[in-house]
Amino acid sequence: MTAPALAAALGRAAADLEAELGALLPAAEGERARLAAAMRHAVLGGGKRLRGFLVLEGGRLTGAPASARRRVAAAIELLHAYSLVHDDLPAMDDATMRRGRPACHRAFDEATALLAGDALQALAFEVLAREDWPAPAGVRLRLLRELAAAAGAAGMCGGQMCDLEAQRRSLDEAGIREMQALKTGALIRFSCRAGAILAGAGERAIAALDDYGAALGLAFQISDDLLDLHGDAAETGKDVGRDAASGKATLVALLGEAEAKRRLAALREEAGAALARLPVDAILLRALFEFVIARRA
Ligand code: IPE
Ligand code: IPE
Ligand code: MG
Ligand code: MG
Ligand code: MG
Repeated sequence: MTAPALAAALGRAAADLEAELGALLPAAEGERARLAAAMRHAVLGGGKRLRGFLVLEGGRLTGAPASARRRVAAAIELLHAYSLVHDDLPAMDDATMRRGRPACHRAFDEATALLAGDALQALAFEVLAREDWPAPAGVRLRLLRELAAAAGAAGMCGGQMCDLEAQRRSLDEAGIREMQALKTGALIRFSCRAGAILAGAGERAIAALDDYGAALGLAFQISDDLLDLHGDAAETGKDVGRDAASGKATLVALLGEAEAKRRLAALREEAGAALARLPVDAILLRALFEFVIARRA
């Protein structure tokens, strides 16, 4: 019963976020139509919207208002989309496909993709800071500060730097976990915390969701690395089979598939134990962990 319920909830979240994002993005018309079109290409019409869903569901469980949940969920999806545009650039992963379509720099050009990524990141912060949605000033400021930390040198960007450097020097397991916790985990942890911060929930609930997010983030990247190895480009909608060729440091490469799958089982326990500390039954978040490790896209 939970898997269909989760699929329905993910579908509803994706539809709500598509509308929210479409309204927040600049229209592809007028003098800067090309930049706006590249931003819209990168954000709309694809993606699992998992980070947005985490904000929506964490906020629902802790009692945050729906319109505020949607705004923060849209902000993290804008920031995530920027990270994908830059991740795909020739200077980084040199990928050609994203979400079943040409990567932004292929659909437009490299300079436009760079700028579209920059502008998406700026827009993520702008839509949080703007006062056209309700949030107490302290909550708004905390979300801005936490998102900045999750995105920056001590978060996603720092992890992406490690990912590139690790192509030239080998990392041990602790090093790979640290890199993955930053490049992928930081935004996922923020997404898990954000709904509870919005709701004004206590630090115990925020910490439980944070621990769930840490386990989910690592599991998410292990499953992404397995998909790079065995996934299908038509199903994943992105380039596959590139990590090994480009010498990416992954737990799958270091430990082998069987051991990486054992790590996933251990992370499932960690995620479940974290959710059990919440005062409510986080049934969809438990199901989401299963979805993440079994996904084919
Ligand atoms: C891809 O993230 C980037 C990683 C952190 C591995 P997703 O798999 O969530 O990408 P979309 O948003 O669904 O396209
Ligand atoms: C890192 O992981 C993704 C970001 C932090 C943007 P990957 O480079 O493995 O992500 P994919 O496989 O291109 O989506
Ligand atoms: Mg990458
Ligand atoms: Mg990549
Ligand atoms: Mg990958």
